[in-house]
Amino acid sequence: MRRKTTILTLQKMYQDNRPISMVTAYDFTAARLADSVEIDIILVGDSLGMVMMGLDSTVAVTMDEMLHHCRMVVRGNATAFVIGDMPFLSYEVSSAEAVRNAGRFMKESGVDAVKLEGGREMVETIRAIIRAGIPVMGHIGLTPQSVSKLGGYRVQGKSAESAQALLDDAYALQNAGCFAVVLEAVPAPVAAAITERLNIPTIGIGAGGSTSGQVLVWHDMLGLHDKQLPRFVKQYAQLGNAIKQALTQYREDVGTGDFPAVEHTYPMPQEELDKFLSAINS
Ligand code: KIV
Repeated sequence: MRRKTTILTLQKMYQDNRPISMVTAYDFTAARLADSVEIDIILVGDSLGMVMMGLDSTVAVTMDEMLHHCRMVVRGNATAFVIGDMPFLSYEVSSAEAVRNAGRFMKESGVDAVKLEGGREMVETIRAIIRAGIPVMGHIGLTPQSVSKLGGYRVQGKSAESAQALLDDAYALQNAGCFAVVLEAVPAPVAAAITERLNIPTIGIGAGGSTSGQVLVWHDMLGLHDKQLPRFVKQYAQLGNAIKQALTQYREDVGTGDFPAVEHTYPMPQEELDKFLSAINS
């Protein structure tokens, strides 16, 4: 079995040019599955608001909801590096509040690091969290918590000026001490240029193949819902259909009496049964 993945493991992978695999997971079972196939990083993303809770965006997700899911994931995981995603307004109001909330992730759920969205404007906050001993992953490009400000879920960095702004943000996050940066929905050549210039790993989602690693959302990559998928998602399985088929078969078996069969029932000694039946029938 592999050893626990730490920040040093991730740094070594980056130095050795070994791509980093990251996937979201939100519960015990999913974490066990991801860890069992040696995924490097499990992100307890605030995307859980949409794929687990049925919300329209990630904006309403709370600290307590995030901590609840982080605890399940940490319990299911043994060796992957686990990151808790700081929800909207848990780190923007003040650095002190950001440190307190990042600390809650570590103390109350046991994750290895936190992630937060934003570029240059987050530098002071990130420094304060890292000073408290908590590793921070940055996240720029399409930042879903700011969907209202961005005017929708759109590709970022398509003009020379906005690409330059992304690069400036990436440098700022690196200088602030982030151990890695997520680049979401960014043209591949822009992500490649940023990756080339940084000396920390970039983890791409919709950012092409030149980043230091990739991340996908659990429900998207496993085909667990029938919502329209962004073009960058590769579906590795159609578990939603497999589950529907299984549930349909179950419903039919219950209807026809084919389930449960003898092998699904508990036997008892015949003499005990006879005794029981004669007692209740007398
Ligand atoms: O919340 C999330 O799942 C994320 C990933 C898309 C990076 O932030």
